[in-house]
Amino acid sequence: MKDLFKSIWDSLRAGAGRSPFSVLQAATVGVDGNPKVRTIVLRDANDELARLSFHTDIRSEKVRELRARPAISMHGYDAERLVQIRVEGIASFVTDEAEKLAVWNSSRPRTLILYRSPVVSGSVIDDPAQAAAPDAADPMLGYENFCLVHVSVRHIDYLDLSNEPHHRAQFHVRDDGAFQGQWVAP
Ligand SMILES: Cc1cc2nc3c(=O)[nH]c(=O)nc-3n(C[C@H](O)[C@H](O)[C@H](O)COP(=O)(O)O)c2cc1C
Repeated sequence: MKDLFKSIWDSLRAGAGRSPFSVLQAATVGVDGNPKVRTIVLRDANDELARLSFHTDIRSEKVRELRARPAISMHGYDAERLVQIRVEGIASFVTDEAEKLAVWNSSRPRTLILYRSPVVSGSVIDDPAQAAAPDAADPMLGYENFCLVHVSVRHIDYLDLSNEPHHRAQFHVRDDGAFQGQWVAP
């Protein structure tokens, strides 16, 4: 179990670089009570803190949803290794400006352009061109819309279809912060 737990975090850490787990699905509870899911890019996976991180626009619907209810589920699938990882956790928004700024400054400019968009994500527009970000010499333009989300991981569900029978394991965080794992039927 210990080795498996480590290998799951190795996969997630690799996702914070470039791997099948770089792009995850993140599910929230909508303000209308319905499940909502969307793709996000995994930006950091910290096993010591049991924490995943991603970036988003503070004006987006998911931020509104997470403010109302911070529960989040994330899903990734490695189609080559036939491994699915599902994570449940609690999202929080980084308010420490130094931490946020360091992440902003270390991000590729191309990934920051969307934060400059003059229109709020999801708002109705007449033409897609209306959402285009203005060219800007100011590298801080859009920073006010940049949101760094940390997900404190509470539960991991691992499924490996490359074995017969398939392997499935679950890990839950205990009160002392350590994770307890067990095999479960797939
Ligand atoms: C490959 C890919 C990567 C994406 N990465 C992110 C991301 O890291 N953060 C983000 O907020 N949206 C990302 N998006 C856009 C979201 O999936 C979603 O469309 C947008 O954030 C609005 O979602 P919301 O209305 O649920 O807030 C990505 C979309 C794709 C297709």
